[in-house]
Amino acid sequence: MNAALIIDASYFLAAFLFIYGLKRMSSPVTARSGIVVAGWGMVIAVAASFLYTLDVEPEARPLLTTNITLAVIALALGLGWAWWSGKKVAMTAMPQMVALYNGMGGGAAAAIAAIELFGHKAHVGVGLGLAVLGGLIGSISLAGSLIAWGKLDGRIDKTLRLKGLQAINGTLLLVLVAIGAFVVYSHGAVSVGVLAAFFALALFYGVMMTMPIGGADMPVVISLYNAFTGLAVGFEGYVLNNPALMIAGMVVGSAGTLLTLLMAKAMNRSVSNVLFSNFGAAGDEGQGEISGSMKPVDAGDAGINMRYASKVIIAPGYGLAVAQAQHKLYEFVKLLQANDVDVKFAIHPVAGRMPGHMNVLLAEAGVPYDIIYDMEDINGEFKEADVAIVIGANDTVNPAARTNKSSPIYGMPILNVDQAKQVYVVKRGQGKGYSGVENELFFRDNTNMVYGDAQKVMVAMIQAVKSLEGGH
Ligand code: TAP
Repeated sequence: MNAALIIDASYFLAAFLFIYGLKRMSSPVTARSGIVVAGWGMVIAVAASFLYTLDVEPEARPLLTTNITLAVIALALGLGWAWWSGKKVAMTAMPQMVALYNGMGGGAAAAIAAIELFGHKAHVGVGLGLAVLGGLIGSISLAGSLIAWGKLDGRIDKTLRLKGLQAINGTLLLVLVAIGAFVVYSHGAVSVGVLAAFFALALFYGVMMTMPIGGADMPVVISLYNAFTGLAVGFEGYVLNNPALMIAGMVVGSAGTLLTLLMAKAMNRSVSNVLFSNFGAAGDEGQGEISGSMKPVDAGDAGINMRYASKVIIAPGYGLAVAQAQHKLYEFVKLLQANDVDVKFAIHPVAGRMPGHMNVLLAEAGVPYDIIYDMEDINGEFKEADVAIVIGANDTVNPAARTNKSSPIYGMPILNVDQAKQVYVVKRGQGKGYSGVENELFFRDNTNMVYGDAQKVMVAMIQAVKSLEGGH
């Protein structure tokens, strides 16, 4: 059979698997299998690339051997690294890993563009234009994702604030666009120096664009760079005349764009506000005084109180992931359910540090999906709850977002935990949430603080409820 036909058929199958896999990722129930399906698509697409070797002219064979050897070494290194890092990464370090992988994608697209442009291979016209655009966006995404990784991993703790930074960045972008247009106008026949300056400036622009953005906004930025990477890969797919790359790029580009918009909406911010303002580094100046006091309560007493409640809603947050308390939490939930307590989980769209963070944690502990509710589906139920228990969440339950116009998180939709009859907040101490603002929920009359690491608190609650049952 003709190799070209098998390659086309493989790419078609790979594209189908990418799209079908993505569709399955839209629900937590099918997400795991969706990843496997899309992964098979990628295996098929990569394997199909090797079939091009069948059509190579005899005189090009020596070069072919070198290229295949290099490709196999690159694949082995990539697979080994991804396998090792995927196995050892902690749940809390997942956003960093996503940033790093995303940067690699952008870098790969930029590398393809570099080969095409430095080697004068791209077809003059649309192909050349897209190679330049892909190179630009891919380089920005590579450098920006690496800075995002550094910030999330605590390696870069500086948030660059320069007077006139936006003007500098705007000028940089204009220069980049001008060089890109010059390359296209010259039909790619420009000096190596011009091309090198183009790529170096694009990388520098990626750094400059990301440095001013505060830590809390990093997941949104990564998602935006993810969209950029998809776009760059799609453009380079066109340049290489490779349909699998084009489709994979389009799928990643559109999924990344939608996710960026959804995350920005969940934080009640516009994407430009995320990129060009300094939320997350703002702190709580100007938030105003909070009246009342924080009232601590014993973990065991809180656990027993919930055992006698009829409806309990749990609002988990980033601290649950830090404490890895999801297993103990579910054990406690099962104890409550055994005592006929109606228990539900309320998930805020940006709880934790990445989209779906809480869903992944709860799925890991085996919590059934039918007791996990999205914010808009459960917010109306808090007023009927006897107890709302906040575990390692902070910003996502801060009522200031609803009422305090001077708060930096004003306007962000929140979980209505404050409307429950009794609120318990599990956290280690006086630590603030990611946005750095104080939470007035903790000072309310119906709120009690249960201080301690979330896992230890859950253990204490379980023991208290069990000892009660043992005593009866
Ligand atoms: P946060 O506001 O980050 O608060 C987490 C709380 O957990 C802290 O106040 C901390 O207080 C507590 N904590 C930490 N370790 C703990 C442990 N071991 N045991 C018990 N408690 C612990 O959490 P959230 O409500 O999930 O909000 C998420 C934030 O991230 C929002 O500001 C959101 O906008 C931002 N963000 C999220 C995303 C996505 S996609 N998820 C994207 C962008 C931004 P102590 O130090 O006192 O314990």
